[in-house]
Amino acid sequence: MSTDLFETPAADAAPAAFADRIMAATLGGIDLVAIHLGRTLGWYQALVDDGPLTSVDLAARTGTQERYAREWLEQQAVGGWLLVDDHDDATRRRYQVAPGAVAVLTDPDSALHVAPVAGFVIAACRRIDDLVAASRSGGGVSWSQFGDDARTAQAALNRPLFLDELPDQIVPAIPELHTALQGGARVADIGTGEGWSSIGLAAAFPTSTFEGFDVDEPSVAAASRHAADRGLDGRVSFAAVDAAALSESRTGAFDVVMAYECVHDMPDPVGVLAAMRAIAHDDGYVLVMDERTAESFAAPADPVERLLYGYSIVCCLPDGLSTPGGVGTGTVMRPAVLAGYAASAGFSRVEILPVEHEMFRFYRLHL
Ligand SMILES: C[S@@+](CC[C@H](N)C(=O)[O-])C[C@H]1O[C@@H](n2cnc3c(N)ncnc32)[C@H](O)[C@@H]1O
Repeated sequence: MSTDLFETPAADAAPAAFADRIMAATLGGIDLVAIHLGRTLGWYQALVDDGPLTSVDLAARTGTQERYAREWLEQQAVGGWLLVDDHDDATRRRYQVAPGAVAVLTDPDSALHVAPVAGFVIAACRRIDDLVAASRSGGGVSWSQFGDDARTAQAALNRPLFLDELPDQIVPAIPELHTALQGGARVADIGTGEGWSSIGLAAAFPTSTFEGFDVDEPSVAAASRHAADRGLDGRVSFAAVDAAALSESRTGAFDVVMAYECVHDMPDPVGVLAAMRAIAHDDGYVLVMDERTAESFAAPADPVERLLYGYSIVCCLPDGLSTPGGVGTGTVMRPAVLAGYAASAGFSRVEILPVEHEMFRFYRLHL
């Protein structure tokens, strides 16, 4: 992330600097809505597959209305997402996606495919009345209430990380984990979502077996489909279950227990971490990947910290408070907070692993 693009004005900056900031945010917010429309209606994909296209061609190929398609094309062109040739007749102008934007908008395997984040923001906006109500009277908004937009955005955003970076760079940087997976490990993937973490590692480590667990049934159904599509369903399976309950049935069953970007969402993180400890066998490896927060609160902060607080107020905190008694961690789970949860769950210590990553920190929880 290039930080100078997102600089905050100094607190004593002139009012115009704050007004400009609102204008930039408005343009950015509208971009996200337009990107969500373009992805949902198949407009970007049609332009990439068959472009350059006129508004008439685009509407015909995607089963949409030409007038709406034309306005969106013009909006996207004036915003620099699309290239357009010069023509006086608006319905005969031909558009294509700017070459540098193709992977960002349409390639699910690219590490730069960040456009799905638009769905995440849309999911939060759909729930704005619930967020207002929860802020007034308590309670929360659960992950299942945020629905398909949030779940598919989450899965799409982490998919390239799980299919490429995790097996190819991150695991090899953690020698003990790498050796375990190469040797044929039984692996539990807690809060697996749509399962890409298990699928990516299963493809890279063919003697290991993976079981993914998640409370969200639509995520588990999607994960099972993804594994079957890749012919991995013999070694990768998924179950809809509250991970805190696993200690009752699977004590000592796994060589590796891992949890990616989910501990901070959990209403009962200590209960889930205690279950992770229980289902790891005596020499097991317990890995947690969570947000690369700053060590402590400071304001103003860098764009990563601002993004994490943004996710927190619109999704993760309300999710964590959606179950009675939820501790409400929020997205900004600092290392000291995780260490406290881990100690309460019975782990002897938490080690921050030497893995370089812009967004995530990797922790080993020692039994
Ligand atoms: C932000 S998503 C992360 C999904 C996936 N690990 C990833 O990185 O894309 C958090 C996931 O944790 C799951 N989850 C939350 N509490 C859980 C619990 N107690 N047991 C199992 N899964 C849980 C949610 O259903 C959701 O799929």
